[in-house]
Amino acid sequence: MNTPNLIKHGTGRQALLAAAWCAAWVVRSHGFEISEAALARLSAPAREALAKASVAPLGQVPVPPGNPLSQEKVELGRLLYFDKRLSADKTVSCATCHDPKTGWAEAEPTSTGIRNQLGPRNAPSVLDSAYYHALFWDGRAQTLEEQALGPIQNPKEMGNDLPKMVAALSQVKGYAPYFKAAFGEAQVTSERVAQAIAAFERTVVSGPSPFDDFLKGSVSALSERQIKGLELFLTKGKCTTCHRGPFLTTGQYAASNLPGDDGRAQVTKNAADKAKFRIPTLRNVGLTGPYFHDGSVASLEDAVFVRANGFKPGAGAASAAELKLTQEEVRDVAAFLKSLNGKLPEIAVPAQFPE
Ligand code: HEC
Ligand code: HEC
Repeated sequence: MNTPNLIKHGTGRQALLAAAWCAAWVVRSHGFEISEAALARLSAPAREALAKASVAPLGQVPVPPGNPLSQEKVELGRLLYFDKRLSADKTVSCATCHDPKTGWAEAEPTSTGIRNQLGPRNAPSVLDSAYYHALFWDGRAQTLEEQALGPIQNPKEMGNDLPKMVAALSQVKGYAPYFKAAFGEAQVTSERVAQAIAAFERTVVSGPSPFDDFLKGSVSALSERQIKGLELFLTKGKCTTCHRGPFLTTGQYAASNLPGDDGRAQVTKNAADKAKFRIPTLRNVGLTGPYFHDGSVASLEDAVFVRANGFKPGAGAASAAELKLTQEEVRDVAAFLKSLNGKLPEIAVPAQFPE
C-alpha cells in the first residue's frame, strides 16, 4: 500500500498500516519502561505513584476487521468529514463541531447545530477517539462506525435522515469514483459513509507529547514547573486514581461537580450512575477547552481547581485550609497537563469538494 502524504507523522502512518484489533477499550502499550532519568526527577512517593499509574506512550490504533484501512477509504472519509452537504440544510459538517483548528474539538461550551440550535454537551475532540471503545460523555456508543451516523441524524446537530443524506451524496457525480476506489462499487450507502468517516478518524491521532519524551528519558522536555505539577498530580492531587494509563483515564465513570445532566444513568438506567461521566482523557487537554461535559469551565487552571478541590465551578473555598491544592499548585498541575499536548497530525482541510 502506498504511504499517503496527507498524514505525515509516524503515528498517523502507523494507523494506516495497522491491522490488529485489540479488545481493550484503549490500547495499552505493552512493556513500556519509564526511564531512570525521568524517575530520578521525582520524589519517592511520586515515583511509586507513577509506576502504579501505568502511563505510557500510545500504542497502535486498533482497526476492526470489518473495516480495514486503505488510503482510498481514508481520503473519501476526509472529504465526507468536512462536507456540509451531509447535513439537512448544508450548513454543518463534522468539522463544524470538531475543528482541526481547535484541537479537533469545539471552542464553544456546547455545540450549535443546524438552524443555530444549541446542544446540551461540549463536543469532545475526535483526536485519538479511534482508541476508545466507549464513546460520548456517557459511553453510549462503542464504535466509530456506529457513532458517525448519530450526528448526521441528530435533529440538533446535522438534522438529516439517512435516505436523504444518501440521495444528496448520490447526486454528487464526483463522489462516485471515490466510493468506487474505496469500496469497489460506486454506490453510496449510509454504511459506507460511516465506514469511510471512521477510517479517516483512525488517522486523526496525536503523536508523542513532551510528557512521552520525558518518560523516555528526555527530562528537559518538561520545565521545572511542569515537573512540580507532575509531582503534585501523582501525590497530593491523587489525580491518578482516575487519570492513569496511556490516556490518563481508567475508562471508568465518575461523579461530576456539575449538576443538571443524568450522564451515564441515561445509558445504564441505574440510579447509582446519575451525574457520572466518562473520566476524560487528559491527552491534548491543553488544546480542547472549554472543559467538562457541559463546557462550563473556560480555563484549564479552573478545571484543575474544580477537580482538585471538589467544588462546583465558581464556588470558592471558605478558607485556604479547605483547599487540597492551592492556587499556585493548581497552576503547576495545569502547566504539567499542557505537556500532554501531542504532535498533531498534518491533515489538510479539503480545498474543494467533488461536484
Ligand atoms: C453540532 C455539533 C456536532 C456535529 C455537527 C458533530 N458532532 Fe460529534 N459530537 C458533538 C457533541 C456535543 C458530542 C458529545 C455528545 C455526548 O457526549 O453526548 C460529540 C461526540 C463525538 C464523538 C465521540 C468522542 C468521544 O470522545 O467520545 C465522535 C467520535 C464524534 N462526535 C464524531 C463526529 C463525526 C464523525 C461527525 C460528523 C458525521 C460529528 N461528530 C458531528 C457535536 C457534534
Ligand atoms: C474520582 C475520579 C477523578 C479524580 C480523582 C480526578 N478526576 Fe479529573 N475528571 C473526572 C471526571 C468524571 C471528569 C469529567 C467531569 C465532567 O465532565 O463533569 C474529569 C474532568 C477533568 C478535566 C476536564 C477535562 C475535559 O476534557 O473537559 C480535567 C482537566 C481534570 N479532570 C483534571 C484532573 C486533575 C488535575 C485531577 C487531580 C487533581 C483530577 N482530574 C482528579 C474524574 C476524576
